[in-house]
Amino acid sequence: MRASTYIEFPARISRRETIIGASAGFSAFVLSLDGIPATQAGSSVVTRLDIVELAKNAAQLAKLEAALKEMQDRSASDPNDPSGWLVNARAHGEFCSIATTASDQIHFCWWFLPWHRAYLSVTERKLRQIASDDSLALPYWNWSSDRHIPAPYTQAGSSFAKAVRFTPTRAVQDGEVDYFPQNPSRKKLGVAALGAPLFQAASGGQIATSFGGIARPNTANRYGNNRLEGTPHGPIHVYVGGVNGQGDPGDMTDFETAGRDPIFFAHHANLDRLWEIWRQTPEHRQSEPQSADFLNKEFPFTWLDGNTIMVKVADVMDTQKLGYVYDSLSVFRPSSQAPIVSAQSAAAPLPPIAKETLTAPFSAQAAGPGVRKILEITDVEKPDRPMTVGVNIKPANAPANEAGENVGTFSAIRAGGEIAWPSRTLAFDITDAVDRYGGEKLTVELVPFRIQSAGTETYPPLRYGQMQIVTEER
Ligand code: C2O
Repeated sequence: MRASTYIEFPARISRRETIIGASAGFSAFVLSLDGIPATQAGSSVVTRLDIVELAKNAAQLAKLEAALKEMQDRSASDPNDPSGWLVNARAHGEFCSIATTASDQIHFCWWFLPWHRAYLSVTERKLRQIASDDSLALPYWNWSSDRHIPAPYTQAGSSFAKAVRFTPTRAVQDGEVDYFPQNPSRKKLGVAALGAPLFQAASGGQIATSFGGIARPNTANRYGNNRLEGTPHGPIHVYVGGVNGQGDPGDMTDFETAGRDPIFFAHHANLDRLWEIWRQTPEHRQSEPQSADFLNKEFPFTWLDGNTIMVKVADVMDTQKLGYVYDSLSVFRPSSQAPIVSAQSAAAPLPPIAKETLTAPFSAQAAGPGVRKILEITDVEKPDRPMTVGVNIKPANAPANEAGENVGTFSAIRAGGEIAWPSRTLAFDITDAVDRYGGEKLTVELVPFRIQSAGTETYPPLRYGQMQIVTEER
């Protein structure tokens, strides 16, 4: 039996723990603030860097690479070694591959952000401990600026590259990172989720426009991903993992295996950083749940010695207390000039899997600025394979070959043998398009992004109830 030890999470790993952990006979350990060696020239807070910046410091990058390799090697000799990379990856599989309706599922609800923050922090501390270096921090991948997998993660032979990936050769598209260069009000945000006014969705109707999701247990008549979790979170998973010619998903395309790919942690560090960007706005931060249901929730993780540590949501809300900050709270890397805006790959776009012509109802056309106009696609049937799909709108009389304006994107990710499909109703904020086109007839097209590394890619039509434009108070 493994002991379950509660730790106060704003803790750093002490040297003492290293000694206790290494000597036989001790099963319990304490993570405490006592006796912690100073880090980064006396600071107890490390800085998570953009991987592009970290890569400039070859020595630091090599240390992280070696610590990761050590964990991978331990798993290679014993897949159940609690200090190995596979056991660490399993934590994600355990909480993410279970039925979407199960109460322990940490996706598709308000646990999404705090659980992944806790997971990253535990993983980061393991790497630090293995490297015996308190200055190690996880890097993040800023996919808003860097539209390909960053170089260290593709270096042959590197522990960073050790993963099953069928990444398509094309760059990450604007739609996959929820960036709207054609749309001034949304372009400003950089990532559309940053415009989400509230953390918690109070009702099913608010899920798609909330930043942090809906409470669990979710009694709303529909359930699903919050704005950030939907896109860019999902499409980046599917982009990195991709699918091979036989339809097999890469590690990142399946929640059960996603934690094995080292880039998982760089992807989630960037999402975690976006949470910090979002909460710089006081009203946003004030909307974070204060209830005990949220703050007292504890998540178990396996520590290096096999013990279970419990991490409480209340203890992860402040990253400084948790021991890290980010080098930048800009959506795009400040040094990069204009963001990289990449067109859909040279290959012809795939045919739409759904197409409809709609007119915004008069109530939506007449609605004032305090009202959002939402495109709803109801009763969507779970797709049978991983995919990422852009939702494009154009005037109905526009030429057939015109791509239209991307107003949102959704993806289907696997969780074990099946697609995790939380949303019977897909919702996209199309306020700007409705305001621009008024009573004109609009064509909505759902167009899949190419996600295969090879072979021909085809998708059956999406099955759904209907598409409609509804209004929602902001
Ligand atoms: Cu728990 Cu990005 O998935």
